[in-house]
Amino acid sequence: MPLRPDDLPRLDLADPRLHAESDLTEVWRYLRDEEPAYWHQEPGRESGYWVITRYADVAGIYRDTVRFTSEHGNVLETLLAGADSAAGKMAAVTDGPHHAELRGLMLKAFTPKALAPIVRSVRRVTGRLVEEAVLRGESDFATDVAARVPLAAICDLLDVPDADRAQILRLTSSALASPDGAPTQTDTWTAKSEILLYFAQLAESRRERPGDDLVSLLVRGRVGGRPLTGEEVVLNCYSLILGGDETTRFSMIGGLRGLIERPQAWAAVKSGRAAIETAVEEVLRWTTPTLHAGRTATQDALIHGSFIEAGDKVTVWNVSANRDERQFPDADVFDPARTPNKHLTFAYGPHFCLGSYLARAEIGAALEALRTMVADGAGEGAGIESAGEPRPVYSNFLSGFSSLPVRLRMDPRYRPGTWAAQSDQA
Ligand code: HEM
Repeated sequence: MPLRPDDLPRLDLADPRLHAESDLTEVWRYLRDEEPAYWHQEPGRESGYWVITRYADVAGIYRDTVRFTSEHGNVLETLLAGADSAAGKMAAVTDGPHHAELRGLMLKAFTPKALAPIVRSVRRVTGRLVEEAVLRGESDFATDVAARVPLAAICDLLDVPDADRAQILRLTSSALASPDGAPTQTDTWTAKSEILLYFAQLAESRRERPGDDLVSLLVRGRVGGRPLTGEEVVLNCYSLILGGDETTRFSMIGGLRGLIERPQAWAAVKSGRAAIETAVEEVLRWTTPTLHAGRTATQDALIHGSFIEAGDKVTVWNVSANRDERQFPDADVFDPARTPNKHLTFAYGPHFCLGSYLARAEIGAALEALRTMVADGAGEGAGIESAGEPRPVYSNFLSGFSSLPVRLRMDPRYRPGTWAAQSDQA
């Protein structure tokens, strides 16, 4: 349902149903134009938080980790609770020199060179899944393809044994977002505790038998002149699973949905008029899987005449910044050939997403497999066609679909098995 600026005083931006069931396009546009630093009173409470919606302001806050810290929570849930128990231990909620050192350690596992074998496996797996979906004709792209790529890549990165991967998938989907309604506190809490316990055991086994994976890097690494504690290791493994799985999935799923809804966009990708790397950036901008980020002001600040006091909670809305007409001409148009495209989907500055290269490779592999294997045209009887209503996830942090029924018809020039043969040669 499209909401209007007049609805604003009644909205609760922390309500997961709001983001799943309503279209906030006009509300975000109003805020960007008229109240770019908006005080959002929490319904029924004295407290509230700032809502920042313009591209330039969002980027400025991301960049300034001295005046806007993540250490009291970087998402609404922890920010409103007033604290994050992982602060100072997990990279995303740590600032200053400790963050820089911890990030530097983790970065070693995320360079293009270190990721090369994982990216090769991503391409192979994605191609196989897309080919299976095309051969079947009708499939759920969310569960049959997208759900099986990012988690496998993170598990490769952490060297999680194959036998444990299904359990990890189940836990990650109930920890952040829920396919059929707002997740209960108990579901979320139980899933998070089980993930943490799992990684504690994995870290223990890597201490005894280290390998080349990220868990081993963390257990052997030193930050601030000392080894990481068991808790620091576990929390940083956990942040990869939660930060890198659903986000990337939702981009892949939303990207295909965009191509189905806009035949011109599919034509641009299919014909090669839009390069895959360019289309990936537009999929990332268009889908914006993480709606917002949270910060706490450490000093007084003035933004467009609004006085932000030290201690105030501040939320920056990627979903709005990525549609800011001041930065993106025709911002509401999904254009896979768009350049330049400096979206804020991966944030900006010191906390810029560590997994961006991997996420781009995954989305790129999906687009390339679709381009190679699926026929021209979108709509009834054409290459790509909707086969049912997509099902949104309920979350105030993540945005996307947990189900996308589609019909994919094979490009008559594609020979099944070609992708696998090419991947084996690579
Ligand atoms: C940080 C988004 C994929 C790991 C972030 C941040 C955003 C983000 C917005 C900054 C959070 C903040 O400043 O509070 C995304 C999106 C993805 C994605 C939209 C997919 C489309 C991944 C992947 C991984 C990953 C695949 C790892 C496997 C991380 C880590 C951080 C981070 C470790 C913390 C970096 C730091 O604080 O220095 N991500 N991410 N992300 N992301 Fe991603």
